[in-house]
Amino acid sequence: MINFNNNPVCRLFGIEYPIIQGGMVWCSGHKLVSAVSNAGGLGLLGAGSMTPEILQEHIDKTKTETDKPFGVNLPLIHRQVAGLIEVVLKNKIKIVFTSAGNPAQWTQVLKANGCKVAHVIANTKFAQKAADSGADAIVAEGFEAGGHNGREETTTFTLLPLIRQSVQIPVIAAGGMYNGSSLLAAAALGASGIQLGSRFAVCDESSAHENFKNYVYQSGEGATRLLLKRLIPVRLILNDFAMQVIETETKGASVAELTNLLGSGRCKKGVFEGDLSEGELEIGQVAALIKKKETAKEIIEDIVHGYFKELERVCNQP
Ligand SMILES: Cc1cc2nc3c(=O)[nH]c(=O)nc-3n(C[C@H](O)[C@H](O)[C@H](O)COP(=O)(O)O)c2cc1C
Repeated sequence: MINFNNNPVCRLFGIEYPIIQGGMVWCSGHKLVSAVSNAGGLGLLGAGSMTPEILQEHIDKTKTETDKPFGVNLPLIHRQVAGLIEVVLKNKIKIVFTSAGNPAQWTQVLKANGCKVAHVIANTKFAQKAADSGADAIVAEGFEAGGHNGREETTTFTLLPLIRQSVQIPVIAAGGMYNGSSLLAAAALGASGIQLGSRFAVCDESSAHENFKNYVYQSGEGATRLLLKRLIPVRLILNDFAMQVIETETKGASVAELTNLLGSGRCKKGVFEGDLSEGELEIGQVAALIKKKETAKEIIEDIVHGYFKELERVCNQP
């Protein structure tokens, strides 16, 4: 029986399967994280929507719900990043996925405190920066992905070979990852694991609002678009708010006008409070494949089972 015992990502984080649940604002609290980690993947608390006090609460609860490894995702542009890092270190969290910012600033601080650090990137320039800053792994996130994204619009299938040419540390593929075939395809392109956001964002244990989850199940191809490229690019479902953004961007709006239109708390409004009209509904292109309610455990089992089935099929085809 083939297993993942020698997989570099499994070894690095001490997990059974090379499947990461990406940190997600308003979705990945203790319930989702412990469910993923208990099922053999790696759950990441999404500290991007938390204060240091709330992060502490989620760490405490996660610790009572799982004895498996779990980690924290820290978007480095967070206003309270120093406070969040203090909580991470105080609680001896050993796995940190940083994103949305310069890895040079905090990687060595985290590593000096015994953390394994992965940094999320969307282009080769930042992959190199992450490697130079001493990161243990890179999450290569393509254009298809939900949430914030790169300006280059490089798809996962192009990004992975680009990254493999420039850095030697383990690479985790993100953006459009859905099932066992995704894991196999990512492995063929040089990745040692996959990170999923969207599929976990709408599973049972996600703290996202039911309105948002149901809206995603009903969405199809072409339902999302990468918007707000002049601010921080983000992939959103084309709801009323997104259409307003498109209209404003088409008129050549300035950064100040776009910032004003976005306002604050839009993602909370959409994803967490379920306002389908005025909220920012962050989700990836893979939403077109997600059609039903499922648990985090079912997702992990589906990926692992599908991987071995697809591997056999590919090996046996002429
Ligand atoms: C609702 C939502 C919120 C997200 N929030 C974050 C975040 O706070 N930090 C981060 O690094 N990535 C965030 N992401 C990106 C995911 O962690 C993951 O890398 C991405 O969703 C993978 O692509 P996929 O959506 O095609 O699975 C978010 C994604 C979604 C869908």
